Amino acid sequence: SDAVDRAVAAFRDGLPVLIHDFDDREGETDIVYPAGAVTADAVARLRNDAGGLVCAALSHEAADAMDLPFLDDTIDHPSAGSHELGYDDRSSFSLPVNHRDTFTGIPDDDRALTITELASVAEAAVAGDYDAQDFAADFRSPGHVNVLRAAPGLLADRQGHTELGLALAAEAGLPPAVVVCEMLDDETGRALSKAAARDYATRHEFVFVDGDQLVERLG
Ligand code: 5RP
Ligand code: ZN
Ligand code: CA
Ligand code: ZN
Repeated sequence: SDAVDRAVAAFRDGLPVLIHDFDDREGETDIVYPAGAVTADAVARLRNDAGGLVCAALSHEAADAMDLPFLDDTIDHPSAGSHELGYDDRSSFSLPVNHRDTFTGIPDDDRALTITELASVAEAAVAGDYDAQDFAADFRSPGHVNVLRAAPGLLADRQGHTELGLALAAEAGLPPAVVVCEMLDDETGRALSKAAARDYATRHEFVFVDGDQLVERLG
């Protein structure tokens, strides 16, 4: 089977998939999990083996139902006035959050709780059973899990890891919530090379898939 089929199967089994976006975009590989499958051990893998920023991406529909804004629309400071990203039109960042049943929110089990609860409420939100007041009763912001919100048409609108991961979750029939974290190189401090990311996937028997393959099948 091809890499996309294997990625869908891995997601259904709660396993991570490595997604490289595009050489002419970020040129980064993220470790991506279905959010509902994230355990404390998974958070440890993200911070130790990936090393970037741990974020939970939600679909446009889920974020809208919970009134979760784009962060740049809420920051009342001139630094948020103009994006000027080198690789895309806009950042997908929404609010950083903690579940209210966490203490500081940063330990692996705290972040795993915040993330799995985000998966569960995202599913309820798209079903119409969960709104902004419900979210506020369960989560506080600021917190230690960065919520991202996807573009409405997913891959037709934007082709970031946010949308690539959520397209994979949708194809797998999972709730519209995935966790992403960039793989960095401990030697150089820069993005891990695609070859090294592929090698990590091979060593751990994880699926590695390219943005181009996901767009071709799911876009
Ligand atoms: C948050 C990021 C990452 O690049 C993440 O992959 C999500 O962003 P995008 O959808 O733009 O790829 O910036 O750590
Ligand atoms: Zn990024
Ligand atoms: Ca490391
Ligand atoms: Zn990215």
